[in-house]
Amino acid sequence: MAEEKKYKAVTYEKGEEAKTAVLMEETRVFEPPKELVEQSNVWQWMQKKGFTDEREMRKWTVDHLEEFWGEMANEYADWDVPFKTVLDWQPPYAKWFPDGKISMTYNCLDRHVKTWRRNKVAYIAVGEPVDDVRLFTFWDLYREVNKLANGLKSLGVEKGDRVSIYLPMIPELSIAMMACAKIGAVHSVVFSGFSAKAYGDRVKDGESVVSITCDGFWRRGKTVPLKAQADEGIADAPSVRNQIIYRRTGQDIPWNEGKDIWWHDLIKDQSRECESLPMDPEDRLYILYTSGTTGKPKGIEHAVGGYCVGPPQTLSWVFDLKEDDVWWCAADVGWVTGHSYIVYAPLQLGMTGIMYEGSPDFPDMGRWWKIIEDYGVTVLYTSPTAIRMHMRAGEEWAEKYNLSSLRLLGTVGEPINPEAWIWYRKNIGADKLQIMDTWWQTETGTFAISPLPITPLKPGSATLPLPGFGVEVLDEKGEPVPLGGGGNIVQTKPWPAMLRAFWKDPERYMSTYWEYYWDTHPGYYLAGDKARKDKDGYFWVQGRIDDVLNVAGHRIGNSEVESACVSYPEVAEAACIGKPDEVKGEVIIAFCALKAGVEETEDLKKAIRTHVGEDLGKIAMPSEIHFVADVPKTRSGKIMRRIIKSKAMGKDVGETSTLSNPEAVDAIPTIV
Ligand code: PRX
Repeated sequence: MAEEKKYKAVTYEKGEEAKTAVLMEETRVFEPPKELVEQSNVWQWMQKKGFTDEREMRKWTVDHLEEFWGEMANEYADWDVPFKTVLDWQPPYAKWFPDGKISMTYNCLDRHVKTWRRNKVAYIAVGEPVDDVRLFTFWDLYREVNKLANGLKSLGVEKGDRVSIYLPMIPELSIAMMACAKIGAVHSVVFSGFSAKAYGDRVKDGESVVSITCDGFWRRGKTVPLKAQADEGIADAPSVRNQIIYRRTGQDIPWNEGKDIWWHDLIKDQSRECESLPMDPEDRLYILYTSGTTGKPKGIEHAVGGYCVGPPQTLSWVFDLKEDDVWWCAADVGWVTGHSYIVYAPLQLGMTGIMYEGSPDFPDMGRWWKIIEDYGVTVLYTSPTAIRMHMRAGEEWAEKYNLSSLRLLGTVGEPINPEAWIWYRKNIGADKLQIMDTWWQTETGTFAISPLPITPLKPGSATLPLPGFGVEVLDEKGEPVPLGGGGNIVQTKPWPAMLRAFWKDPERYMSTYWEYYWDTHPGYYLAGDKARKDKDGYFWVQGRIDDVLNVAGHRIGNSEVESACVSYPEVAEAACIGKPDEVKGEVIIAFCALKAGVEETEDLKKAIRTHVGEDLGKIAMPSEIHFVADVPKTRSGKIMRRIIKSKAMGKDVGETSTLSNPEAVDAIPTIV
């Protein structure tokens, strides 16, 4: 059905990629310790069901998809109205548990405050300033969420309205999300490291009626003026009636009379009780913007029902959480990792979790390890970039602290190189802890390929599709690749926490994920990543098949950075590529062609970088800018990033005759 296929399927049999694949062959296997296996949640479920073999169990759950997820939905969530139907699948649209009724906030808070967990600590909120620690019990959260939810209602927020949230890593972020969920409002959280403009674009696209932010927050000992940024972003967003401001730093802020309201004033006289609205499972819980291949970020929509099931189930099975664990997902709630595994899943499971506001290197590189020692963290989940950063700083930082409380480790966001994996296990995991390398996406909502505590591990491999997930690696024609081969990751079956739509863009939803294999396999989801399967069927994720960048585990669209470069007045054209980086996985390199007569200076490079930082946020700042006379393009004007990248990396550029300006390729400098 697609006229022109957007992506090239990647099959590795010969040439460069095959060599990489061979180099990646990792022979070390780390068997799970017997004690870990026998006490694990998944093993106990297997015993109950009579499974003794992991592969057999994984296969059974996919072959009995509805039976499996139906059981999980009742085990991990409480339903206001029980569902009778598990799945209504009309590719590419799935409805999970469609005839039930459910509330996310009820599942995270209300049900716990009816039990002994009411006074259990839900968050240990560690601020960046040393000794700034706040404890929140489930009851504290319950009260604060209810007051804010009532406050939102008093501002006229109704079910289905969008509320944009621009907050740092403080529990109020989680409280704001759950307050929205409580009354059926749809939250749209924007990472606090994004710029004013990025915030504004997302608020406008979502037509949010309320914006929630704070005066400022701490980052590396300084305060970031978030409220001022939020104001700048929403200055021309007519949909926003009110802005709620939480006081975090106490710094001076600009004030818009009639629109702005302090959080503490809003909740002052509100009731501590508020009904958790029972929702249709397909009602939307949130929109989260992520980068794609065009310059416009896409709003991924997640639905309440499936999302009440997928995150807690996967967290319980993969990280094996128990009542007395102290869970630390060291991501930011501004990304999907934090939505699923700092906010919703751990609270649903009634866990105690860490929420850390600041930077890992403040006041020094021992901060994380101090937090683990101080609060007895038992399970740590982070990114390969963070691990490589700690690796570079040296193991002596970790050695100063007692990390013996840890019992399991994890990573997410990008492929982890075996060297970093081994360092993590040896220095943080006392040379004995298993590492759960979880592959997933904003779109999947939960882990999809991941080890379980019972899985033998190979450093660098995310191992196998999780129970209840049909995942395959297909070649260009839609055939599963043989063991040892590589191709595109596809999900062959729907799953509960899957994305439901793109906000306001149904065509792009279809063309991005479903069209590619539609002719042969309608309903197969194209993840946009390439992977190789080894002789044991283990998945080795190799990165994106499109031009999306992955910087420090965060997805950034090339075209977004390019359009930010071009919005600088002196720049005529730009092409951005990712260059492999020892710590961040990838860094952004921009090739800019300047307008006629503009002088190429170092100051101009600096100014363009700063401009991109201001436009999109620091995370998207190119690490290098190179001036070129012309950007290589096809005759239809498409920037040939793959060719540019090959030339810049000193590799064979292949065929360039289809370009309108092949000489521009020669002018691209080799930068490695
Ligand atoms: O390329 C894959 C990479 O991150 C992408 C998803 O990015 P995002 O939606 O921002 O979500 C990140 C956190 C879930 C994927 O398409 N990725 C994520 N986890 C892994 C990974 N690549 C390799 N191994 C992983 N474990």
